[in-house]
Parts: sequence; C-alpha cells; structure tokens
Amino acid sequence: MKKIRASAPGKLMLFGEHAVVYGRPCLVTAVDKRISVSVSGILGDIVWVDAPDVGIKNYQCRISDLGKSEDVPKGVRFIERALINFFEKYGVKKGLRIETKSDFSSKFGFGSSSAVTVALLAAVTELFSIKISKKELFDLAYKTVLDVQGVGSGFDLAAAIWGGTLYFKKGGKKIEPILVKEWPLVVGYTGIKADTAILVGEVAKLYTSHKEVVENIFDDMEKIVNQAKREVEMDGYNSLGELMNINQGLLDAIGVNTFELNNLIIAARESGAWGAKLSGAGGGDCMICLVANNKRLAVEKAITGKGGTVLKVKTNALGVKIE
Ligand code: PMV
Repeated sequence: MKKIRASAPGKLMLFGEHAVVYGRPCLVTAVDKRISVSVSGILGDIVWVDAPDVGIKNYQCRISDLGKSEDVPKGVRFIERALINFFEKYGVKKGLRIETKSDFSSKFGFGSSSAVTVALLAAVTELFSIKISKKELFDLAYKTVLDVQGVGSGFDLAAAIWGGTLYFKKGGKKIEPILVKEWPLVVGYTGIKADTAILVGEVAKLYTSHKEVVENIFDDMEKIVNQAKREVEMDGYNSLGELMNINQGLLDAIGVNTFELNNLIIAARESGAWGAKLSGAGGGDCMICLVANNKRLAVEKAITGKGGTVLKVKTNALGVKIE
C-alpha cells in the first residue's frame, strides 16, 4: 500500500487566550515550524508508531486495544484517539505504520499535539481516499482533543488546518482568515513547560469564585481582539503593541502570568518593543512581542539577557498539506 505524508504547522496565540474558552474570539497565527506524519498500511491488525522527537520508538498496539492503556506517552494518546475516531466515523480499519517528525520541540507550546492530530488525520483520510472538508477535519480533530484532554477551544487545530492568521471562536463556531502580511514578532521561550489543562482549570476555579469580575475581564479581552483585528488590517503596529500590553495586564489579573514570563515581557518593552504579552495558556512556555525591524536586535538581546531563548519563527504559515 502507498505511503502518505502530511504536515501541519504549529501556532502562536496572538490575542484572546483563556477568554476564547468562554466563547470570546481570539487571534491565532500558524508558524513555519511543522510536524509531519507518514502513514502506510501494513498487514495485520497492529498500529505501529515511531515518534523519535518525543522519545517513542517501535510502539505497537492492536487496533482493538487502541485507547485502552492509561500509561501511554502523551503524543501516542492523541494518535490512538485520532485513529479510534477516524475508524469509527468512516467504518474502516487497517494495520498502520505511523512515523512522525517535528521541526520543533514539544516543550515550546507551539501546539505539537494538535499539529500531530491534524497531520495524522489528513494523512489517513488521503490513504483511504476519503474526501474530507476542512471543517470535517476540524470536527474530527476537535473531538480527539476533547477526548484526550477534556478542555480546549480548538484554536490550535484551526491554525494547523487553515494556516495563516485566524479570527477564531471556540469549537470552530467562527473561523475567519485575516489578511496580514507577516507579524513582526519576536518570540521568547522561558524554558519552563506549561500544562495547558492545569492552567485552564485554575482559571475555571477563579471564574467560579469571582464570576462577575472574570466575565468582565473576558469582555475586555474580546474588545481587545476585535480592536486588534481592525488594527492589523491597517498595519497599526503601535496600537497593536498597546493592545498586547493591555491584554497582558488582564492575563496577569486572571493569574496566569509568571515571574519568568514577566521578566522577558518587561525586558522586551524596555528595549523598544511596541508591546509584549505571554502567548497561550501562560504559566511558562513563550512570550511574544511586536517589534519594528530596527529594534529587533536590541529586543532579542534583552530577552536573551534575562535568560530567555529567542525562537526564530515566521508567522502566517501554510496550513495542513499532503507532501
Ligand atoms: O497553551 P496553549 O498554547 O495550548 O494555549 C492555550 C490557550 C487557551 O485559551 C488557554 C486554551 C484554549 O484551548 O484555547
């Protein structure tokens, strides 16, 4: 049987994280760091996985046992669940050999689980010659993510599928491509791995105890996202930087900022960035800042000087594709 390879991009959340879990919009962009997944049919009823980037070599599971073992590595959990959902939806079953390869480490928070899920589902649908729309692919991938981790808006899956920059609402209620050339971003990694599900859980606790206050914060985040959407269409980077700073203040207010993120954010602002904020769930991972070309070196140096690692990424990358 033929071998199919599909690749999908990672993402960076630009504006609106956390509020998006509560039905508000967010802005997300796909980055040029990709994960590729190769799939070929094999005889027998075994699914065989090699994912060397996350330390998985020669992992084997019977099709009938997919999803049953509790202690499989995280990367494999998404793969197993995606296959269960795919086999169920399309009424097919086949032994498969799956290999994944990543341009980036899963520790950066670029959405590796989502990119793997999307690339795998795109590859298997192609392998079985099933025609699937982007929205159907999103729904299947979103079900997979919810099955595995219980929470999430699906913004990272949308970025992996559509690519570019998107105005997005939870569950794919709205997926609107935004026309922008390239975000002049510098990305700083704190060196600390954040756990999205735990942070979403902590925000949920705060939401329960201070619902009205937190609702108001989410409303303000929504205004920021809508304003940012208008500004970006007019290249209003100065104003976008200010909106980033305000968004960061609100993220701090809901408790997801950290000392390390803050250090990099302040360093970026003080060395001339238009604005800076954390990107994603918070608690670690990456911060982003908007920077004019002539300030880029100074900002990168300031981030490195505070112990951060500058990650070179390009935004607005292509969505999932069959290689
Ligand atoms: O931690 P990340 O980069 O996957 O971002 C999480 C963003 C949240 O809004 C907190 C959760 C979500 O699924 O939208």
